[in-house]
Amino acid sequence: MFQSRKKSRKTIQEKFHKAYYESRVWLTETQWMGVTIAKNPLDLWVYQEIIHRCKPDLIIETGSYKGGSALFLGNMLDLVENGQVISIDIESHGRSVEHPRVEFWQGSSLSETILARLKTRVNDHSKVMVILDSDHSEEHVLEELDKYHSLVTPGQYLICEDSNVNGNPVLKEHGPGPKEALEKFLPQHPEFKVDASCEKFGMSFNPGGYLKRKATD
Ligand SMILES: C[S@@+](CC[C@H](N)C(=O)[O-])C[C@H]1O[C@@H](n2cnc3c(N)ncnc32)[C@H](O)[C@@H]1O
Repeated sequence: MFQSRKKSRKTIQEKFHKAYYESRVWLTETQWMGVTIAKNPLDLWVYQEIIHRCKPDLIIETGSYKGGSALFLGNMLDLVENGQVISIDIESHGRSVEHPRVEFWQGSSLSETILARLKTRVNDHSKVMVILDSDHSEEHVLEELDKYHSLVTPGQYLICEDSNVNGNPVLKEHGPGPKEALEKFLPQHPEFKVDASCEKFGMSFNPGGYLKRKATD
């Protein structure tokens, strides 16, 4: 009885997830403070909880798009009165966001120049969080995980966005993506643990993608 209720809840959640995703409202009609943001608002609420709890000194985001998520992060950091955001994108997308806590860097997240610059900045910060939201192919995400995971400091999060694609449960036609990259990355990195509590609202675009670095490795 209990099992079947749990199963039917999961089915309903999956159906809603697919309907919501396919509506594309999260991509075309969702804004933060007037700026387009390509996120599921339930995930943004989880971001808010993480930021309040962890009070990062630096948040590195790969994939800025219009800048809505970087602005959201900057505004959350205003509320906790701490931290800076570095958001990296290969394109400018006509972005016009300005916020004293946010820097936009142009280039590939995997460029050696960007990575070298990041390393110097990270040395100055004790609590670093990383959000991977750029190219969602398995190959690119795996390389980002490889290059960025060591920047995340103990007790902070490494968030791998859009692990819901490739039929997990949406966009079957995507091909291997973040979920498949995580399946390769996690067994090699016991210092990171999936924080399933971040999926408590029943529909996250990042299933299995909220990784917390253990307080002590
Ligand atoms: C999903 S969008 C980012 C959405 C944004 N974080 C938000 O929530 O509004 C992905 C972005 O990644 C960028 N991108 C693609 N390949 C990239 C790369 N190699 N390095 C950095 N950014 C890349 C694209 O230009 C695009 O703006």
